[in-house]
Amino acid sequence: MSRLKELREYVDEELNQLPEDKRVSATAHLYGVSLAATILAKKRDLDEELAAMAGMLHDLHAYKSGSYDDHAHLGAGLARNILEKLDLTTMEETDTICSAIYHHDDKLVTDSPMDELLKDADVIDHCFKDSSKAVKEKEQVRYEKLCEELGLN
Ligand SMILES: [Fe+2]
Ligand SMILES: [Fe+2]
Repeated sequence: MSRLKELREYVDEELNQLPEDKRVSATAHLYGVSLAATILAKKRDLDEELAAMAGMLHDLHAYKSGSYDDHAHLGAGLARNILEKLDLTTMEETDTICSAIYHHDDKLVTDSPMDELLKDADVIDHCFKDSSKAVKEKEQVRYEKLCEELGLN
């Protein structure tokens, strides 16, 4: 089984414990960000598998706890525990994934390429899952840069 599939099976089990209304939106978002992250990784010549794995884990803490308070930082710790338990990644890969999750809510600053990739994948899912909705102010600049990068203007 691929590492990504194994991680997804673990995340699916965690999500199955949520009430149905939350489970559906949480699953859609984590898989949506994971897909967007894969596409951006291919475009930016970054590791597609690690990008997809970061997407699958990035908001899990918020869903499990029911709170977005400090969810990026707390989520990085949760992701580290999960990755160490599953033993799918090297220490360096775990650090890369956890750094991206740690920084993913800092949409107004620029961090490492993989950190930026996860922020952008999050913005893609937020903005494109219902394009009739207005783009949030804090995501506007990233959204416009992404449209330019992907030739969507
Ligand atoms: Fe988040
Ligand atoms: Fe998210």
